[in-house]
Amino acid sequence: MSPSTARTERTVLITGATGGIGRAAAVHFAAQGARVFATGRKLDLLEALEKEVGDPARLQGLALDVNDAASIAAAVAKIDEHTDGAGIDVLVNNAGYGLIGPLLDINDERLRAQFDTNVFGLMAVTRAFVPAMIRKRRGRIVNVGSIAGRLTMPFMGAYNASKFAVEALSDALRMELQPFGIDVSIIEPGPIATGFSSTSMGTVGELDASASLYAPILAEADKMHKGADRLNSPVEVVVRAIHEAAFEDNPRARYVVPGSLQAVIWAAKATPTRLLDAILRRALGLTAKKLAPSV
Ligand SMILES: NC(=O)c1ccc[n+]([C@@H]2O[C@H](COP(=O)([O-])OP(=O)(O)OC[C@H]3O[C@@H](n4cnc5c(N)ncnc54)[C@H](OP(=O)(O)O)[C@@H]3O)[C@@H](O)[C@H]2O)c1
Repeated sequence: MSPSTARTERTVLITGATGGIGRAAAVHFAAQGARVFATGRKLDLLEALEKEVGDPARLQGLALDVNDAASIAAAVAKIDEHTDGAGIDVLVNNAGYGLIGPLLDINDERLRAQFDTNVFGLMAVTRAFVPAMIRKRRGRIVNVGSIAGRLTMPFMGAYNASKFAVEALSDALRMELQPFGIDVSIIEPGPIATGFSSTSMGTVGELDASASLYAPILAEADKMHKGADRLNSPVEVVVRAIHEAAFEDNPRARYVVPGSLQAVIWAAKATPTRLLDAILRRALGLTAKKLAPSV
């Protein structure tokens, strides 16, 4: 058996595998010979995924809502049963969504829900599955963060805050788990062609836009959204990075995907904060002329 076959034969669990990046990663890993537990909330979509792969030894769907402690515990028990207590070797914390909108229009309940899924859910799943890796003194955790965890944009503050938190948690976990043979990487995708942007736009739709201070900008949200979608990269670029983080020797701590976005991060970091603010405000139409013409 070649070393790379040995690696891909490992057991992988992916959260949020009912669509987008998680689903594509699940199909890829199964095709590579890994044993995949594809988890999510929508059982019909997991069944369709099982059918597509058509090999229960390679891919099994499993109910797992990252916000539900009982569902996480049930998934751990099922995996222990299926693996004779060995547990998983690779955890891909992918489930997440983007809560978009002006911060003043986002109440505590919705802000907490954003952190529940993107931050607390990721940590709850990690705590649940890491003990088996510690017993084996081997494992990989791949957290799907975002370029939004490196750069802040107006109207993305809630999502930015959650993904900045994922950055810090990933860095601390990497140092804390290294003595136990567990590696932690974070994937930082830019805009990717998945269901993500329509789910995010759905959160804008939940706002009372006409009552917002930012009504003139929110009225153009659809147009901006369509423009932004033209920047999307295909999901495969993220899957490649997750693969590398999961299976390659010496995985990197962070993967910006596509790699060309690294230059954007460097340029933004090299730009004085107030100048960057002005550039982003102008791009989003955040001007007194537009928002507060009578002041
Ligand atoms: N696409 C992008 O442009 C982009 C860019 C940077 C980072 N990301 C990150 O990539 C990850 C995957 O997003 P995606 O692009 O693949 O979007 P997507 O197509 O909307 O998929 C998101 C997945 O997360 C799942 N999910 C949401 N809440 C969940 C919960 N409480 N428990 C379990 N699963 C849950 C969704 O399941 P349901 O169908 O049940 O909601 C879905 O399977 C997210 O963490 C996102 O922040 C995406």
